[in-house]
Amino acid sequence: MSEKLLDVKDLKVHFPLRSGLFSRTVKHCKAVDGVSLSLKKGETFGLVGESGCGKSTLGKTICRLIQPTAGEIHFQGANIAGYDRKQMRPIRRDVQMVFQDPAESLNARHTVREILEEPFIIHGIGDASARRKKVDALLDRVGLGKQAAGKYSFEFSGGQRQRIGIARAIALEPKLIICDEPVSALDVSVQSQILNLLMELQKDMGLTYLFIAHDLAVVKVISDRIGVMYLGKMVEVADGAEIFKNPIHEYTKALISAIPVPNPRAEKNRVMLRGDVPSPIDPPPGCAFARRSPIKVSEEIASQPGDYVEVSPGHWVEMHPATVADYDSYAASS
Ligand SMILES: Nc1ncnc2c1ncn2[C@@H]1O[C@H](COP(=O)(O)OP(=O)(O)OP(=O)(O)O)[C@@H](O)[C@H]1O
Ligand SMILES: [Mg+2]
Repeated sequence: MSEKLLDVKDLKVHFPLRSGLFSRTVKHCKAVDGVSLSLKKGETFGLVGESGCGKSTLGKTICRLIQPTAGEIHFQGANIAGYDRKQMRPIRRDVQMVFQDPAESLNARHTVREILEEPFIIHGIGDASARRKKVDALLDRVGLGKQAAGKYSFEFSGGQRQRIGIARAIALEPKLIICDEPVSALDVSVQSQILNLLMELQKDMGLTYLFIAHDLAVVKVISDRIGVMYLGKMVEVADGAEIFKNPIHEYTKALISAIPVPNPRAEKNRVMLRGDVPSPIDPPPGCAFARRSPIKVSEEIASQPGDYVEVSPGHWVEMHPATVADYDSYAASS
């Protein structure tokens, strides 16, 4: 589990926003603003954060569906950030995506067989009879069975459609799958079936997952490590167990305290944030979280950036007087 599959360094995605008669770029939306992260072969890295913090943009940029503005994306040792279409072809086999809404990503005019044959045709794999066998095997593997092949995706339930989406993602035996909220639209009981399927496939095929969700409870079930994003930046990363036992960033604490508990009488210290998420179009200077943190600091301190520090092996936190409750003792010990 120690071999690095993916190493993202200081990745930035700034979308130009144009306006006026000549469509001049007037501003930038800093959707991803300096994210570093690495994935070991065979692990699941859970990525959480509020809506709009840049999770999907980060995932799509790693797949190169979005062009990075700056930074490096090392996949199996090669920096693919600047690869052109031709160079990306073999990488496309190895890096796949599963989306939240399979209905949008599955062509409604094609049968399931046509949808699942497509990756083999694009990559010139097998003749018609070999492809037929591969599709049948895929449908069995994701628990739908061969009889699903002749139907259309809209004839299935949400959970079954997600199984088709997963079958398509594993068709070419990839190494990395970016799962962008794959269970967010499903009922809780169906969620756990899909999570179980993903975990079985990981074990059988040695897959590595970047698993995006806004729900920490879902991420907790599936992740080895967890990263918390806030407004385009990673603010805390640690082992799954460690982050729940010892969250350090006030934002992580707020997300954990918002997870519903089954016992309504259980003691719960809810960490309340101030105000709304600021916009990545005009992010506040310095520490973006400072103005929302329950720890109040002066505007002068808020406008100074935090430091991203490894506080214990593998546990990284954005250190700033407004993000960490006992900042002074951390500052004194480092
Ligand atoms: N193509 C684009 N052009 C301009 N801005 C964009 C584009 N795509 C995303 N954004 C902006 O980038 C920011 C991050 O969006 P992103 O979809 O990555 O967030 P997210 O964390 O996945 O949110 P959600 O949980 O709602 O899926 C948002 O402010 C969004 O409006
Ligand atoms: Mg998203």
